[in-house]
Amino acid sequence: MRRKVIAGNWKMNMLPNEAIEYIQSFESMVKSAEAEVILCVPYTDLFYCLLNVQGTNIKIGAQNMHFEENGAYTGEISGKMLKSIGVEYVIIGHSERREYFAETDQTVNKKIKSAFANGLKPIVCVGENLEQRETGIAEEIITKQTELALEGLTNEQVKNTIIAYEPIWAIGTGKTATADDANNSIKWIRNKIAEIYGEEVAKEVIIQYGGSVKSSNAKELFTTSDIDGGLVGGASLKPEEFSKIVNYNK
Ligand code: 13P
Repeated sequence: MRRKVIAGNWKMNMLPNEAIEYIQSFESMVKSAEAEVILCVPYTDLFYCLLNVQGTNIKIGAQNMHFEENGAYTGEISGKMLKSIGVEYVIIGHSERREYFAETDQTVNKKIKSAFANGLKPIVCVGENLEQRETGIAEEIITKQTELALEGLTNEQVKNTIIAYEPIWAIGTGKTATADDANNSIKWIRNKIAEIYGEEVAKEVIIQYGGSVKSSNAKELFTTSDIDGGLVGGASLKPEEFSKIVNYNK
């Protein structure tokens, strides 16, 4: 049985004092959650968050990393650096990074390998845009992205990769994919993984849905056959709202 993993992606929001206040109220709201709870926060909040989640069931993730461990890469943060302060998860290949920061399937693949080499668990984003969905090539796009992202990983690493299926047209737009559509797209991804890495691996991979998840649609999405939780943007910025998503089954 796969566990549910529900992660908040704060994107470029929240100052350290806001992050600390958030965790202080959020912590008690999710302490009996059955799902794994992760907050992916800006670099400047990481250390404060790590200190404040000690003794709770909340895990902390970053939103990006560089694929080299160190060197002349001004402005970048490596997986080794994230691990050194106690970060456990890292989002890789978010569509906003692909669109605005020239992230490619190749850099995504290098970053995933570096995340594993440094003991981090990657949350890898894939998803089609509206035109690709409307022209009927969504399956081809997301299965290709998945294949290239995971290229060269061992079966064990693939099992430990979290994939977030985030259709670009549903991100921050208020338009959610229907539970059936999201579940179907996630099945395409799982089938592709089965084809390359075998059924046993595919059955274990956590595949989340992301794109306008809120407390009013979380239950419908997360109780389908293949959606293993969510990656939540806007609705993760308020502790009450995000806690309702995390506790979708209560
Ligand atoms: P929203 O939940 O704001 O649509 O964002 C989704 C997302 O991009 C999470 O990574």
